[in-house]
Amino acid sequence: MRILFLGDIVGRSGRDAVEAQLPELRRRLSVDLAVVNAENASHGFGLAPAMADSLFAAGCDVLTLGNHAWDRKELIGHIGGAPRIVRPLNFPPGTPGAGSVLLTLADGRRALIANVMGRLFMDALDDPFRLTTELLSRHRLGTTVSAIVIDFHAEATSEKAAFAHHLDGKVSLVVGTHTHTPTADHRILPGGTAFQADAGMCGDYDSVIGMGKEAAVARFVRKMPGERLQPADGEATICGLLVDTDDRTGLARSVAPLRVGGALSQAMPEPG
Ligand SMILES: [Fe+2]
Ligand SMILES: [Fe+2]
Repeated sequence: MRILFLGDIVGRSGRDAVEAQLPELRRRLSVDLAVVNAENASHGFGLAPAMADSLFAAGCDVLTLGNHAWDRKELIGHIGGAPRIVRPLNFPPGTPGAGSVLLTLADGRRALIANVMGRLFMDALDDPFRLTTELLSRHRLGTTVSAIVIDFHAEATSEKAAFAHHLDGKVSLVVGTHTHTPTADHRILPGGTAFQADAGMCGDYDSVIGMGKEAAVARFVRKMPGERLQPADGEATICGLLVDTDDRTGLARSVAPLRVGGALSQAMPEPG
């Protein structure tokens, strides 16, 4: 299975880039499954239902979230009827929506996609390691599902690496999100799980992690609350990775970074 994962969409710049380019990326790279983090899609904070619909129409199969899940409160009443929008698995019991979705592709193959939040330098939440292990006890890679993708939304690279090693051999891909900065550590772990500590964002990098740089810098310099942060609106870099998996085992055969447009160095996986 060929899986494209894109990191946090930030604001209009990121949305416009993904909506304009995802159809062609899907075709050119023969993508079977596109999973996109959209926690910052709506003006940098949250995901409005109408914007989710536009992203689905552009070819996103599943939208994942994170600590900004409920910044657009309309999503709270919407997510129960939108199973392809996935919020963190370790939110408290009774939270609307689900932390994973079992998706059946057009050709009948099935994939499990989950969104899990880390706890280091983040909100206090339930144990991501234990809850993910519980989730995986109900799905067998290469048997009941052809692929398992976990978006681990976390701040600390140490927690991300520990989480990936904990799941090595049990899932197809562990990919970090939340820092909005792509890391260069994409690789296949010894047990066959593809890993990258952070996918980066789909947003304007001439910014402070997607937000307008003047206001963001002023907060650090003056140490006083300043004007509200607004997403930077220059050309976005679409950041993510492409993973090929073996349908018999569900494990990764290759992983390659993707960076298209905007201020970052460009990287395009080989077309399949
Ligand atoms: Fe984010
Ligand atoms: Fe986040």
